[in-house]
Amino acid sequence: MIVCVCNGLSERDVRSVAGPTTAVGDVYRQLGCRVMCGKCVPHVAELLQAVRTPALIGPAATEPDVARTRRRRVAA
Ligand code: FES
Repeated sequence: MIVCVCNGLSERDVRSVAGPTTAVGDVYRQLGCRVMCGKCVPHVAELLQAVRTPALIGPAATEPDVARTRRRRVAA
Protein backbone atom coordinates (compact mmCIF):
# COMPACT_ATOMS: atom_id res chain seq x y z
CA MET A 1 0.00 0.00 0.00
CA ILE A 2 1.29 3.44 -0.89
CA VAL A 3 1.81 5.58 2.18
CA CYS A 4 3.35 8.67 0.61
CA VAL A 5 2.03 9.66 -2.79
CA CYS A 6 4.47 12.55 -3.21
CA ASN A 7 7.50 10.26 -2.86
CA GLY A 8 5.96 6.97 -3.94
CA LEU A 9 6.75 5.29 -0.62
CA SER A 10 4.98 2.10 0.30
CA GLU A 11 4.24 0.73 3.74
CA ARG A 12 6.91 -1.88 3.02
CA ASP A 13 9.46 0.89 2.30
CA VAL A 14 8.69 2.53 5.63
CA ARG A 15 8.89 -0.74 7.53
CA SER A 16 12.21 -1.56 5.85
CA VAL A 17 13.91 1.40 7.54
CA ALA A 18 11.87 1.50 10.75
CA GLY A 19 13.59 0.63 13.99
CA PRO A 20 13.00 1.17 17.68
CA THR A 21 14.59 4.62 17.63
CA THR A 22 13.68 5.74 14.11
CA ALA A 23 12.04 9.18 13.95
CA VAL A 24 9.61 10.18 11.22
CA GLY A 25 12.22 12.40 9.56
CA ASP A 26 14.70 9.53 9.56
CA VAL A 27 12.35 7.46 7.41
CA TYR A 28 12.36 10.02 4.60
CA ARG A 29 16.10 10.66 4.89
CA GLN A 30 16.96 6.97 4.83
CA LEU A 31 14.74 6.48 1.78
CA GLY A 32 16.40 9.39 -0.01
CA CYS A 33 13.49 11.81 -0.02
CA ARG A 34 11.85 14.45 2.15
CA VAL A 35 8.41 15.43 3.39
CA MET A 36 6.61 17.49 0.77
CA CYS A 37 2.86 17.94 1.44
CA GLY A 38 3.00 16.19 4.82
CA LYS A 39 -0.27 14.26 4.50
CA CYS A 40 1.58 10.97 5.00
CA VAL A 41 3.37 11.97 8.21
CA PRO A 42 0.64 10.73 10.60
CA HIS A 43 0.52 7.36 8.86
CA VAL A 44 4.33 7.04 8.89
CA ALA A 45 4.25 7.87 12.61
CA GLU A 46 1.62 5.15 13.17
CA LEU A 47 3.74 2.61 11.33
CA LEU A 48 6.76 3.52 13.43
CA GLN A 49 4.69 3.20 16.58
CA ALA A 50 3.53 -0.25 15.47
CA VAL A 51 7.14 -1.31 14.90
CA ARG A 52 8.13 0.00 18.34
CA THR A 53 5.27 -1.72 20.17
CA PRO A 54 4.29 -4.83 18.20
CA ALA A 55 2.60 -6.28 21.30
CA LEU A 56 -0.05 -3.59 21.06
CA ILE A 57 -1.16 -4.88 17.66
CA GLY A 58 -2.19 -8.29 19.02
CA PRO A 59 -4.86 -7.36 21.57
CA ALA A 60 -6.43 -4.74 19.32
CA ALA A 61 -6.58 -7.18 16.43
CA THR A 62 -8.20 -9.87 18.55
CA GLU A 63 -10.63 -7.60 20.38
CA PRO A 64 -13.68 -8.71 18.35
CA ASP A 65 -12.84 -12.35 19.17
CA VAL A 66 -12.78 -11.50 22.87
CA ALA A 67 -16.15 -9.79 22.59
CA ARG A 68 -17.60 -12.81 20.78
CA THR A 69 -16.26 -15.15 23.46
CA ARG A 70 -17.81 -13.02 26.21
CA ARG A 71 -21.18 -13.04 24.46
CA ARG A 72 -21.07 -16.81 24.14
CA ARG A 73 -20.30 -17.17 27.85
CA VAL A 74 -23.23 -14.96 28.76
CA ALA A 75 -25.58 -16.90 26.50
CA ALA A 76 -24.49 -20.31 27.89
S1 FES B 1 2.08 12.25 0.68
FE1 FES B 1 4.02 12.17 1.64
S2 FES B 1 4.79 14.13 1.46
FE2 FES B 1 2.92 14.19 0.39
